[in-house]
Amino acid sequence: MNNILDFETVELDSKSNELVIIDQTLLPGRIEILRLSEAKDIWDAIHELKVRGAPAIGVAAAMGLYILSCQIEASTFEEFYTEFVKARDYLDSSRPTAVNLHWALMRMDSVVKANMAKLPSEIIAALRKEALAIKEEDIAVCRAIGENGLTLIKDGYGILTHCNAGQLATCKYGTATAPIYLAHEKGLNIKVYADETRPLLQGARLTAFELSSAGIDVTLLCDNMSGSLMREGKVHAIFVGCDRVAANGDVANKIGTSMVATLARRYNIPFYVCAPTSTIDLNTPTGADIVIEQRSPDEVTTMWYRERMAPEGIGVYNPAFDVTDNDLITAIITEHGIARAPYSDSLKKCANKKPGQ
Ligand code: MRU
Repeated sequence: MNNILDFETVELDSKSNELVIIDQTLLPGRIEILRLSEAKDIWDAIHELKVRGAPAIGVAAAMGLYILSCQIEASTFEEFYTEFVKARDYLDSSRPTAVNLHWALMRMDSVVKANMAKLPSEIIAALRKEALAIKEEDIAVCRAIGENGLTLIKDGYGILTHCNAGQLATCKYGTATAPIYLAHEKGLNIKVYADETRPLLQGARLTAFELSSAGIDVTLLCDNMSGSLMREGKVHAIFVGCDRVAANGDVANKIGTSMVATLARRYNIPFYVCAPTSTIDLNTPTGADIVIEQRSPDEVTTMWYRERMAPEGIGVYNPAFDVTDNDLITAIITEHGIARAPYSDSLKKCANKKPGQ
């Protein structure tokens, strides 16, 4: 195997009880597979972005929690649950912004509570089933987002995307890239532009890598070039992923997204956010209530450079995400349909829909 798309982003080896991931910090130069079973290693893998992207960290955390549950030694349910909650909360502390992490861990928690009268071995079996179901659902959800998003793409479109909301951020298809993969599959002539996405370069290292591996026409640009690209009329639609959608439709996504959305408004370009309903957080009223992860200054001053590129001791502003105000968003594409303003109504409808409705 040497095509990145042939690898699973996140996998559970049920024989050895290990979490199997691609180390995304090494891409595109090296494809290295990590096998993890210790709490600290799983926490680090999420925190250090070895596995990243909102849906993928949800799946990894669910599988990780299953693996850690297998290691619990307890003689009563209460003892088991105390240890389970410790492991759950520890993994939940690895990254704050993407709600899928918390969502997946709480799904695992509900399974334990629903099975509290059962034998420990039965609880463990139910946890394994749930973790695998979360992964399978993610694939189906991304495919459905792709089908809904495809209705917004026309032959000849130039499409801009930011960060990586691709297969590497999910279990297949991606969210923002799902309509792109389906458009390509259908033979539409599209041209994708990938923002490099400073400071961790997910656009350059991951999006450009996976889309070109799929044979899609993709062009890389620095983040400060998208305004000029839009002004030249090369962008007909923008598709991005997201990490948390507040109840009013404000969206947290990779830093730089709100700048792209603001430019899109200036140049009258539709700005679409692709969101599995697991990313919609109706308990968070607005974007102002979303916790934004702050990361190390080194990511800006030294990482990727042969030598330090900023004065020693300089203050650095390095939030990992920003909030795009809902009025800049043309539509939010979910697996249950396309939500439009007013989002406080339309998101509730999408989030509360059951599969097949
Ligand atoms: O910090 P990262 O790489 O986890 O950030 C990822 C993003 O912001 C993605 O756009 C988002 O998670 C959408 S995933 C389909």
